[in-house]
Amino acid sequence: MRRQLRLGVNIDHVATIRNARGGRHPDPVRAARLAAQSGADGITAHLREDRRHISDDDIERLIREIDLPLNFEMAATEEMLTIALRHKPHAACLVPEKREERTTEGGLDVAGGRDHLASFVRRLREAGIRVSMFVEPDAAQLDASLELGADIVELHTGTYCEAEGAARERHLRRLVEAAAHAERIGLECHAGHGLTFDTVGPVAAIATLSELNIGHFLIGEAIFGGLDSTVRRMRALMDKARAEAGGERSA
Ligand code: PXP
Repeated sequence: MRRQLRLGVNIDHVATIRNARGGRHPDPVRAARLAAQSGADGITAHLREDRRHISDDDIERLIREIDLPLNFEMAATEEMLTIALRHKPHAACLVPEKREERTTEGGLDVAGGRDHLASFVRRLREAGIRVSMFVEPDAAQLDASLELGADIVELHTGTYCEAEGAARERHLRRLVEAAAHAERIGLECHAGHGLTFDTVGPVAAIATLSELNIGHFLIGEAIFGGLDSTVRRMRALMDKARAEAGGERSA
């Protein structure tokens, strides 16, 4: 069943737990298969330069064994480009990456990095891979993404999720405005980072968003409730928020 608001399940942190012992368990590909059965519309995985969670073999197996579209998160490096061009995932999401960070901190500076990023966007698109730019909810970053030929912008929801009270409302308004701007200039708009059962509703209610990518919370919560019921509950909260906002539940 195709829904208007897709859920991309990020399985990176299944690999984090596996790598803590260096063996094969728990297997992120098994988690991807289960997420697919539980209502995920896509799988997201970030192959980091230091391979701290997802491995090259995981990417190969995700491509070979999972029917859902793969959103391959990658830094704009020649090494990652070669891997993307070899596997031709459904989409590649360009993200900033720093070795010392614990997770992706902030969005990609597309406006400031045009010269470096242009050839990555072009070569990915020439290979038939949809290109997404992970950016802060900032019109200048969206305009620059369009200028470079990206198909999609994914809005960073981390600051919204971390904020509280009036500050959270303010950050939500930035997301709403950026999603409206993406629609005006003709970019598909996704969002993600830090989303939880508590924070997903207002984001899912933004009618022009077509995909949310969620990982860390789902994998952490699965310890208590199981992956199947956690993914189903997230899916249900997204559908409820979208329905209450007047959008379509499914198509
Ligand atoms: N979207 C992008 C581009 C990301 O880099 C990440 C984290 O890897 C996510 C979404 C998911 O964030 P979280 O794991 O906090 O849900």
